[in-house]
Amino acid sequence: MTIQWYPGHMHKAQKEIKEALPKVDLVIEVVDARIPYSSTNPAVAEILENSDKKRPIIRILNKIDLADPAITKLWCEEFDSHQDTRSLPITAKKPEEVRKLIKLCHQLLPEFKQKEKPINAMIMGIPNVGKSTIINILSNRTIAKVGNEPAVTKRQQRIDLDEGIILWDTPGFLWPRIDNTNSSYRLAITGAIKDTVLEYDDIAYYAVEYFREAYPELLKQNFKLDELAEDTTQLLEAIGVIRGCLRRGGRIDMDRICKILVHEFRSSTLGNISLETPDMIKKEMVEVEEQIRLKAEKDENKKGKKKKRRRR
Ligand code: G4P
Repeated sequence: MTIQWYPGHMHKAQKEIKEALPKVDLVIEVVDARIPYSSTNPAVAEILENSDKKRPIIRILNKIDLADPAITKLWCEEFDSHQDTRSLPITAKKPEEVRKLIKLCHQLLPEFKQKEKPINAMIMGIPNVGKSTIINILSNRTIAKVGNEPAVTKRQQRIDLDEGIILWDTPGFLWPRIDNTNSSYRLAITGAIKDTVLEYDDIAYYAVEYFREAYPELLKQNFKLDELAEDTTQLLEAIGVIRGCLRRGGRIDMDRICKILVHEFRSSTLGNISLETPDMIKKEMVEVEEQIRLKAEKDENKKGKKKKRRRR
């Protein structure tokens, strides 16, 4: 499965972040706690690393009400092991958890309160991680979404919070991870990629194979199965029977069961499930780097052959 993102929009978002950065004291990136790596924006870390001013980064792991608590803990430890980065696991379903962000900003930059200066904090996140919900809670009002549609150009929003913090909402459309195919699937399963661009059966196969490996007991309990078939189609068919997805003649309606499975995951009917762990990502990153290296090698060879042909 490949996702199309528009280089123009990606370039624009990157440019806007770079332009806004000089006035920023602290960066907040909201990620989905079920996919903390796949829902980060790859440009954020790069821009911050190459910036001449060091700023604290808060990674909000939102939607912990849907994620696996043991895996969320691993991700928090992973983020906190990086210098200048602090994790904040929350669910925006509980406004009091969102408000912890204010305290954390002041903890990380105590000198601002002492000097009675406001903290300029830039908040960003790929679509669907819950950024708007968080901003609305912090500002006690409903603030329009900023540039979640690729085609909509909006200006950066300044939101003055009473507690000595000015939030800057990034205007650009932030894209997710696209270099890792697994990330594309995970983004699709959580709904971060709109349903119109994906095939339900494609992502349901990926999802059920992962659940069978990582959460076999949850699958058994939810679908009242004693055994989980090794053949993925057979497993989906067994789930289909339980959910009554039958067509005339007793055939299983695979489209329906694929949709049901994905929706039951999204609504956490299946339980608290995370789709990636720090260890899984470490392994995948090695594979992705190897793929990038092989592709570069192939491109170089192609170029070499073209040159030779031209010389003849
Ligand atoms: P965005 O600005 O990052 O694009 O995300 P937004 O706040 O619009 O949230 C995307 C969806 O995620 C919304 O659901 C929102 O209610 C839900 N959401 C946000 N935070 C949490 C959380 O901590 N836990 C859970 N379970 N859901 C969360 P929606 O169905 O798209 O919209 P709505 O029906 O809630 O309005």
